[in-house]
Amino acid sequence: MLKKGIIIQGSANSKGNTNKAVVYFKDKTGFDFIDLKCKDIAPFDYEFKNKYDDFLPLIKDIAQQYEVIVFATPVYWYSMSGILKNFFDRISDCLMIEKETGRQFRGKKIGVISSSSDGQPIEGFEMPFRESANYLGMEYLGSAHTWVEEKELTIKAKERLTWLSEVTME
Ligand SMILES: Cc1cc2nc3c(=O)[nH]c(=O)nc-3n(C[C@H](O)[C@H](O)[C@H](O)COP(=O)(O)O)c2cc1C
Repeated sequence: MLKKGIIIQGSANSKGNTNKAVVYFKDKTGFDFIDLKCKDIAPFDYEFKNKYDDFLPLIKDIAQQYEVIVFATPVYWYSMSGILKNFFDRISDCLMIEKETGRQFRGKKIGVISSSSDGQPIEGFEMPFRESANYLGMEYLGSAHTWVEEKELTIKAKERLTWLSEVTME
């Protein structure tokens, strides 16, 4: 029996603004949580010399256990964080040396939490998530863009996270 969901946080700050949104979302959903900053995940390597780092055990675990995956990332230079992009690049391992795991992603669902300096969603920010979901045979549920003012998540950010919690729990 698959567990409902997991939040995969990829921020350079484990307890920063992205994490504020994650904590709010986790409280609503009860989803499990992984902080990629605490994992040893090297960039993609065509020779797979990195295959004994934390990526393969982690991705196998996620594939076997969860129905919904929510990626949480700050906006760094109009894009997802480098930590999360490394994780996405390594999903290519699942198309090359770990195909059985790659196939297990079909039918699962993806959501996104983003955090930037203001409330304006970044044009094109969702595209890599939506298209990657599409490529892997997954369903893209949408994103909640958040920001923090005076160290607090804004009301609008909380509303967006509540919406995402509802669609991911359906
Ligand atoms: C390296 C870096 C790049 C950033 N680039 C952007 C950007 O392109 N657009 C934006 O609105 N904010 C940008 N910011 C601000 C962060 O998105 C924002 O402070 C976010 O809430 C940080 O989340 P964190 O505490 O989890 O890192 C950037 C911050 C950093 C450190």
